[in-house]
Amino acid sequence: MLLSAVQNAIFPPQYFSKKSSSVSLWNINESNISQLQTLNSELFPVKYSPQFYENILNGESFGLLATHDNQYVGAIVGRLQPYRFTEDFEGNFNRAGYHQMETYKRDVICGYNYKEIYIMTLGVLSSHRRLGIGRALIDSIIEDSKKNKDIKKIVLHVQSSNSSALAFYKNYGFEVSKLVKEYYRLIPSPDAYILTLELKNRNKTPI
Ligand SMILES: CC(C)(COP(=O)(O)OP(=O)(O)OC[C@H]1O[C@@H](n2cnc3c(N)ncnc32)[C@H](O)[C@@H]1OP(=O)(O)O)[C@@H](O)C(=O)NCCC(=O)NCCS
Repeated sequence: MLLSAVQNAIFPPQYFSKKSSSVSLWNINESNISQLQTLNSELFPVKYSPQFYENILNGESFGLLATHDNQYVGAIVGRLQPYRFTEDFEGNFNRAGYHQMETYKRDVICGYNYKEIYIMTLGVLSSHRRLGIGRALIDSIIEDSKKNKDIKKIVLHVQSSNSSALAFYKNYGFEVSKLVKEYYRLIPSPDAYILTLELKNRNKTPI
């Protein structure tokens, strides 16, 4: 699979075993993925499918876990995808549908040199917030993305009502690029913003 091959080249698993102060970041693999499932069930109102976790293990997406004093307290999951993928689907990845997505990957990724990182989830247990753990997780992704000249930007959706996440991301220079009405399903406050961080000193935007 092309995406996972590119991704593995950019994010080799051992790369994420970093340690700063009492926070450690760990690449997600078979041995710790259950920790991600436990965290996600505490952090998010939606239940992620088995495929969500399988994609991390098979390289379709990637993830980091954060520990604080040997306790799993936060995680980030993202994927590498074609540049402008989020905008091209009007910011509504879920409704793109599997076949449309596969066609898009096949037809477009080969033609584009450029990529974007899409952040699927980022969360820290409420007991451990404001300790810099979210910062450590997003910093790691931003810094590694900057090392690859083909990655033009980092994008994500966030509930428009989620003021703490908006404040968090704006710290790093993320800007609102779009409001997507009713992006989320089956939860209150379904509207989402697409937030974008353009990575500087990149090559020219593809035509
Ligand atoms: C958003 C989230 C990941 C931040 O994690 P965190 O570990 O608490 O963030 P940090 O401690 O690294 O904060 C870094 C900076 O972001 C800003 N920030 C973080 N939380 C904030 C809040 N609630 N209000 C205002 N600013 C905030 C602050 O500037 C903070 O620096 P400071 O503490 O020195 O002032 C966390 O609040 C969370 O898990 N929320 C629930 C899940 C979620 O909404 N995820 C995002 C959408 S996927």
